[in-house]
Amino acid sequence: MPVSEFSPVLSEEEIRKRVVDLATQISLDYRDEPLVVIGVLKGAFIFMADLVRQMNIPVEIDFIRASSYGQSDTSSGEVLLADELHTEIAGKHVLIVEDILDTGRTIERLISCIEARGTKSVRVCACVDKKERRETNFNADYICFSVEKGFLVGYGLDYAEKYRYLPAIYALTNSTIEESK
Ligand code: IMP
Ligand code: MG
Repeated sequence: MPVSEFSPVLSEEEIRKRVVDLATQISLDYRDEPLVVIGVLKGAFIFMADLVRQMNIPVEIDFIRASSYGQSDTSSGEVLLADELHTEIAGKHVLIVEDILDTGRTIERLISCIEARGTKSVRVCACVDKKERRETNFNADYICFSVEKGFLVGYGLDYAEKYRYLPAIYALTNSTIEESK
């Protein structure tokens, strides 16, 4: 479990409450429309599982994989789309579920890939919106939490594939980042 190299940012309880609010809002917005929820692997897996279980509308589920980090804590700018979608999304509403928005490059690339399949609409739901390093004009439709900066881990978020399993969200300190390199 986290020791002094982590500082708590969002507790399990805070996350749980906010996820319920957001799921309620999304369910209202799509109450009469079929919706496909697409999670961005791996980071969104916990958030998406919690979110769809709090929604009260039927949804289809699929996943897409994007990776721009590798073993580093800064985006390489390259976004690799490794997994193909298996769900037919042409003519349907799509909600992309992301763990965290940083520069905004990953999500913009994903949106254009998904829109190219002839969707009816594409919206984005992010667990965390991190403002400081944004390089695009992108704004998500649904956001659980906004933070200014910091490298966050837990609740699906990783640093070099570590810490995804933690049930709450923590900020890594610089010393932790150095040691792990
Ligand atoms: P962007 O293309 O710079 O917006 O990068 C977004 C992706 O980078 C996210 O989907 C995460 O996988 C990863 N990422 C960005 N910031 C963090 C962070 O603070 N912790 C963990 N992963 C992050
Ligand atoms: Mg990641």
